[in-house]
Amino acid sequence: MVSSAIGLAFGLFGAGFATAQTTGSLPITDLVGTWSSKSNSTLTGPGFYDPVNEKFTEPKHTGISYSFTADGHFEEAYYRAIANPTKPECPKGIIQWQHGSFQKLANGSLTLSPIAVDGRQLYSDPCSYKNAVFTRYNASELFERYEVVTDGYRKITRLNLYKFDGSPLMPLYLAMSPPEMLPTSTLNPLTTSTPGGAKATGKVKRSELPLNHNVLSKRTPQQKQADRWWWVGVILTASGGALYYFF
Ligand SMILES: *[C@@H]1O[C@H](CO)[C@@H](O)[C@H](O)[C@H]1NC(C)=O
Ligand SMILES: *[C@@H]1O[C@H](CO)[C@@H](O)[C@H](O)[C@H]1NC(C)=O
Ligand SMILES: *[C@@H]1O[C@H](CO)[C@@H](O)[C@H](O)[C@H]1NC(C)=O
Repeated sequence: MVSSAIGLAFGLFGAGFATAQTTGSLPITDLVGTWSSKSNSTLTGPGFYDPVNEKFTEPKHTGISYSFTADGHFEEAYYRAIANPTKPECPKGIIQWQHGSFQKLANGSLTLSPIAVDGRQLYSDPCSYKNAVFTRYNASELFERYEVVTDGYRKITRLNLYKFDGSPLMPLYLAMSPPEMLPTSTLNPLTTSTPGGAKATGKVKRSELPLNHNVLSKRTPQQKQADRWWWVGVILTASGGALYYFF
C-alpha cells in the first residue's frame, strides 16, 4: 500500500515536472529564424520554391538555408554546384527543397522529418543530359548537435550544425527572424487530381512524381545510395535564365 502510494506520488511529480520543463520535446527558441550560408542568397521560402507551379528560382550564388519555427517546423533549401574535376567545363548543379517537422532530443541532437510527398529535387548535368531531372526528394536528417553563437568578427548570430557523424556543416548566419517559409502544412497531398483532367496529356501530374532514391547528399547514416534516376516527363532548362521550368 505504502509503496504504491509513493510510486503514484512520484509518478505525478514526474509527469508534472516533465510538463513544466517541456511539452514533448526540448525548447528550441534559439533556432527560430531563417539561416543561410555566407553568400546569403539561398534562402528558404517562396523565393526559392514555388509549389503551385512546381518551379525553382535559381539563387544568384550557391548556398544552403534552413528555417525553424518555435512550434517544431523546418524548411530547407540547398543549391549546390558539383565540380567535375575531369571535365571542369561540365559542372553539375543540384537544387533541393523539403520541409516538415523537427525535434530536439534529450541528448542535444536534432532530427528533421520531412513531409515525404512535398520535397523536390532538380538535378542538372548539362553535359550528360539534355534536360534537368526533377524528382521528389525526401531525406530525414540527424544533426548530432548544434550551437548558436555570435560571430566574433561580423557580430552576426551564427548557427553551427554538426552532422550525424560529428563533422560541421558550413556555418549558417541568421538572415531573417521570424523565418521566411512556405506554409508548413502538406503542400502536395498524394491524391492531387488534375482539374478537368484534359490538361494532363503528355504531362506528369505532381502526385506521380517519382521519389528520387539517388540521394546525392548522404545526410543520415541510414540512407543507401541507389544508382538510379527516374526521369520525369519533359523538363526544360532555361539556359542562362534564372528559372527552371517543368512540365
Ligand atoms: C522518407 O525517407 C525516410 C528516411 O529518410 C524513410 O524512412 C521514409 O520511408 C521515406 N518516405 C517515403 C514516402 O519514401
Ligand atoms: C541522440 O539520440 C539519437 C536517437 O537515439 C541518436 O541517433 C543520436 O546519435 C544521439 N546523439 C548523441 C550526440 O549521442
Ligand atoms: C540576408 O538576406 C536577407 C534577405 O534579403 C536580409 O534581410 C539580411 O539582412 C541579409 N543578411 C546579411 C547578413 O546580409
